[in-house]
Amino acid sequence: MVKVKVPATTANLGPGFDTMGMALNMYNTVEMDFHHSLDITISGVGMNDIDTDETNIVYQAAKMVFDKAGQECKGLRMHLHNEIPVARGLGSSAAAVVGGVVAANNLLGSPLNEQQLAELVTEIEGHPDNVLPALIGGIVIAGWGKEHLLYHKIKPGAQLQAIVAIPEFFLATKKAREVLPTQVSFQDALFNVNRASLVVSSLLTENYELLSEVMEDRLHQPYRSDLIPGMNALIERTKQVGAIGVVLSGAGPTMLALTIDNSDAVAATMQQVFTEYGIRCTVRRLVPIM
Ligand code: HSE
Repeated sequence: MVKVKVPATTANLGPGFDTMGMALNMYNTVEMDFHHSLDITISGVGMNDIDTDETNIVYQAAKMVFDKAGQECKGLRMHLHNEIPVARGLGSSAAAVVGGVVAANNLLGSPLNEQQLAELVTEIEGHPDNVLPALIGGIVIAGWGKEHLLYHKIKPGAQLQAIVAIPEFFLATKKAREVLPTQVSFQDALFNVNRASLVVSSLLTENYELLSEVMEDRLHQPYRSDLIPGMNALIERTKQVGAIGVVLSGAGPTMLALTIDNSDAVAATMQQVFTEYGIRCTVRRLVPIM
C-alpha cells in the first residue's frame, strides 16, 4: 500500500495566467493498493460529490501511469481523504490527478521520473499552473517548450502568508474559461508580460514592496469578475488594509490575499466584503509550502 499527500494550489497569481502557481498547506491524501477490482472509499470535504466508479479522476490518472508503464491494471483499492474544497479555485482537480499519478507510480516502483510525471499531469489537466506545484511544491513557473515541459521552482519567502476566502458556491473551471476572449489587445498582452515578470523578480528577491504593486492582470480577471460578486471591491478594500496582493485564486471563485503582516485585518475584510455582496464564505489562513 502507498500513501501520498498532495497540497492545494493557487494558480495564476494574478498576471501569470496558466503559467504560475503556488502550493499551500491544505492537503488531499490518496492511499492506494493493488486489488482485483475497483474499490474506492472517500472521506472529508465533498465526499458525496465525488464519483467512486471508473470515472473517478484519481483512478483515471492512476490508470494512465499503468498504461505508460505497460502494466495491466485489474483494479485498485483506494481511500481518498480530501481537505481541498471542490471547484473553488484551490486545485482540487489538480490534486486528484497528481494524487492518482504519484500513488500509481510509487505502487509500480517509480517507472516514471519527475519530468515524465510533470508532463503527464500537465497533459491530463491541460495546463501546468496547478498540477506542477501540486507535484513538486513551492511556487512554480511552467510552460511547454518545443518537446518538453519547461519549469522552474521558486522557494516561497518564509514570511509570506496566504489568506483565502472560499465562497460557498461552486464555479467550474470550464465555465470560468468560457468567458475569456479569444484575442486580447497588444497593450493588454504587454501589460501582463510586464506584471508577470515583475511578480517573478519580486518573489525571487522577496521584495514585497514591489510585489504589492505588480499583482495585476488584464488577461482573465476582468472577464471573470461578473462571475464572482464583490471581486473588485474585495481586491480594492483588502489592499487598503495592508494585503500585498489580492487576486482571483485559479479560475475562482476563491480570492487569495498574500500578506506578511496585517493578516487579521485582511481576513476580516475579505469576509466582510463577501458578506456585503451576499456571499457566504470561509476564510482560511494558509502558508505557501516547499
Ligand atoms: N489557469 C487556470 C485558469 C487555473 O485560470 O483557468 C484553473 O485551472
